[in-house]
Amino acid sequence: MKELLEENENGFFSLWSDKETYRRAILLCNPVFHDDPLFNHATGTLDSEDVIEFIIRYFDSRNVRPAIYANPWNLFPLREVLLGYGFRLWDELFVEVRGADPQSPTQSTLRPVEDTDALRTWIEIYESAFKIPSYWHREIEVRTKTMLRRDDVTLFVKYAGEIPVGSLAAYFTGDLCGLYCIGTPPKYRGKGIGSSMINEAVRVAGMRGARAVCLQTLASDKLTGFYERLGFRVAYKKQVYLR
Ligand SMILES: CC(C)(COP(=O)(O)OP(=O)(O)OC[C@H]1O[C@@H](n2cnc3c(N)ncnc32)[C@H](O)[C@@H]1OP(=O)(O)O)[C@@H](O)C(=O)NCCC(=O)NCCS
Repeated sequence: MKELLEENENGFFSLWSDKETYRRAILLCNPVFHDDPLFNHATGTLDSEDVIEFIIRYFDSRNVRPAIYANPWNLFPLREVLLGYGFRLWDELFVEVRGADPQSPTQSTLRPVEDTDALRTWIEIYESAFKIPSYWHREIEVRTKTMLRRDDVTLFVKYAGEIPVGSLAAYFTGDLCGLYCIGTPPKYRGKGIGSSMINEAVRVAGMRGARAVCLQTLASDKLTGFYERLGFRVAYKKQVYLR
């Protein structure tokens, strides 16, 4: 299962960042989002100092601060080596999973983004929910426009009546659906919108043939209890190091 979860996560982030491989390491980098450890990180199998040095050189040459995801199955004494190269533990990423629910939603409030007007709304909600700096805007437009042409990813806007109140992306790899960009603008929070958006997405994923649904959340966001109440369990955790 972990390979499928990793494939989904890395596949989705490679829609936002350029992907490079070195040995069995995967490097995801987007210099526009240079200060963001999610859009700029190395993951996969990190099993020698040579790999770590390659990662440092690669990100340095692009003026991007690298993050490294230490997966629990890395046997190499990664922590000691990373500390030696000037990395420090920044956060922990929880990979969470639950079964999909192949029930047709009774009344759908999630609308798939199919044109540029709907995309503009999605971006507005996403940027507000995640407090995105304005200099990211153009790159987000470019990246999400490309997503509209793909069959494996759907962006959704959650509506309360005619008011757009949430953003979400569903990314399909095999029979797994990853939920990303789950956000509600601050003024709409704490009203059950996030929960109902996720419940609905789990059903949409099931209707589209997914057997399981996954997502990632940072320990510092303190959302594991929230996701647990929505039926997710932690499959594994990764330490995130930042240089
Ligand atoms: C996470 C997020 C989508 C939740 O959306 P929401 O519409 O507030 O969700 P809900 O109202 O269904 O539930 C929110 C939970 O947050 C807590 N909450 C309550 N009031 C809140 C408020 N004013 N602000 C934030 N969280 C609040 C509650 O504990 C609630 O959990 P519970 O009711 O299950 O105990 C939203 O806070 C958000 O967009 N955050 C920033 C982006 C982000 O971190 N996304 C998740 C990436 S993994």
